[in-house]
Amino acid sequence: MTWLITGGAGYIGAHVARAMAGARERVVALDDLSAGVPARLPEGIPLVRGSAQDPELLKRVLAEHSVTGVVHLAARKQVGESVAQPTRYYQENVGGLATLLEAVAEAGIERFLFSSSAAVYGNPDVDLITEDTPCAPMSPYGETKLAGEWLVRAAGRAHGIATVCLRYFNVAGAAAPELADTGVFNVIPMVFDRLTRDQAPRVFGDDYPTPDGTCVRDYIHVADLAEAHLMAARRLDAGATGDLTVNIGRGEGVSVRELVALIGEVSGDRRAPLVEGRRPGDAPRAVASAGLAARELGWTARLGVREMVESAWAGWRLHHGG
Ligand SMILES: NC(=O)c1ccc[n+]([C@@H]2O[C@H](COP(=O)([O-])OP(=O)(O)OC[C@H]3O[C@@H](n4cnc5c(N)ncnc54)[C@H](O)[C@@H]3O)[C@@H](O)[C@H]2O)c1
Repeated sequence: MTWLITGGAGYIGAHVARAMAGARERVVALDDLSAGVPARLPEGIPLVRGSAQDPELLKRVLAEHSVTGVVHLAARKQVGESVAQPTRYYQENVGGLATLLEAVAEAGIERFLFSSSAAVYGNPDVDLITEDTPCAPMSPYGETKLAGEWLVRAAGRAHGIATVCLRYFNVAGAAAPELADTGVFNVIPMVFDRLTRDQAPRVFGDDYPTPDGTCVRDYIHVADLAEAHLMAARRLDAGATGDLTVNIGRGEGVSVRELVALIGEVSGDRRAPLVEGRRPGDAPRAVASAGLAARELGWTARLGVREMVESAWAGWRLHHGG
């Protein structure tokens, strides 16, 4: 068995590669390095530099490495950018996926795992989001993830590929400082960034219908998320057929205010946050029901928000000082 990990030099991809290789799965990474860092990959994992949208390259890599399953993480992931550049997002996240699935079907590969996102749900008015909660994405990014799921399931049915779509909630932390997310797109690095600049963290809106008025999210440690990929890959290796779409979260809500207070404790910089206006499109609450992942994958998150903040802070200091 060999798994191809597209986007394998990325933040999540490198964690997945490490977890799978650590569990003695054979893996090969494919990354165009548009956002990836080769040094994140442990020694012994081959890295093919190139695009997961290049049909000739895909054909060669799938054959040369005798690939039997694909974990597809390579994608554009910035919500704001997707609003400004929707055609690019559809082209890369949906068009690129179609190219990859054609190569997978052509090569007779029967296992496919897709990185989806809680962004497919949009802003549902429920306490816990189950996989049956209706999807209504609020950005072109979320739309491309939902369309990607449809495409994965349709290609799976047409070509006899067993598929799993993992809907990640808010990914944070690092298994080691050098694997940390270097982008400043999510709340934890955004707060670190402010503190490093000697500025108070910003909180967008404190008048939401939540216990402390700030938005509530479900944070998941990237090492736990990587483990979920391993469990999903094992399910496919064990002969699972059909498709499975599953939330990957902890089922626990943490408010932005609680998170900022925890970051203050961990960093030792406890300055009070600056409350600004709401950002358009932010849901008051987005927390996963995590039951299906436990039942279907035998997976539950182990690490808490403190471990996420501590490991993210160690990574931030390595990459940015502070
Ligand atoms: N980070 C999150 O909070 C989060 C949440 C939900 C879903 N996701 C999804 O998880 C996946 C990985 O996200 P990440 O946070 O690791 O992002 P990332 O940008 O660190 O990783 C993506 C990797 O894919 C590579 N890549 C992009 N386009 C490519 C192409 N055409 N060919 C080959 N490589 C290409 C990039 O160089 C990068 O290494 C994405 O699909 C993203 O949408 C992420």
